Amino acid sequence: MNNFCYHLNINIEPIDNNFLSELVSKKEKITIIPKEKITYEIINFLDSFNLGIAGGLSFYRSANNESAIHMDCNTIQDKVNMNWVYFQDFQSRMHWYKFKDTPKYKILTLPNGDNYTDILKEDVELIHSEKIEFPSIVQAGIPHSVSTGASERLCICLCLTNNLTNKKLTWDESANIFSKYTKI
Ligand SMILES: [Fe+2]
Repeated sequence: MNNFCYHLNINIEPIDNNFLSELVSKKEKITIIPKEKITYEIINFLDSFNLGIAGGLSFYRSANNESAIHMDCNTIQDKVNMNWVYFQDFQSRMHWYKFKDTPKYKILTLPNGDNYTDILKEDVELIHSEKIEFPSIVQAGIPHSVSTGASERLCICLCLTNNLTNKKLTWDESANIFSKYTKI
């Protein structure tokens, strides 16, 4: 397993089907997922591991699009998200980067009030690229971006918290918790 992404062998949808169809037709770049649209199945599954959901967002990208490089937080940290990526072809990829020098970034705010950081391409170096299937666990606390290929992409993203520590779920915690479900 690398340190950026792994896929899970679970068959649980994160949000209700009608809301998913709505997101598909609206094609909004970012949508906050209301708590009541998250399925009981995923809430219960996560709860059985003492995991909570800090928030959910959906991201729509058109074909042949490259997102900005960013981190899902206001400073480099170890935090994972659970992602479901729909409507992608084999060319859609998530990319991870390291800073060439001292980290440089601009802190911005998402519609839900969470901070993220914008990073210039020239300040980072690509270290890994991978196709994201669903569901998958991705490292979101270091610089990353997404590029689509010939088809559009919708990503449902749940930010996970560890109820035992009351902090964002880290990579190693997630790997331990989901070891039985990891696809090799
Ligand atoms: Fe992100």
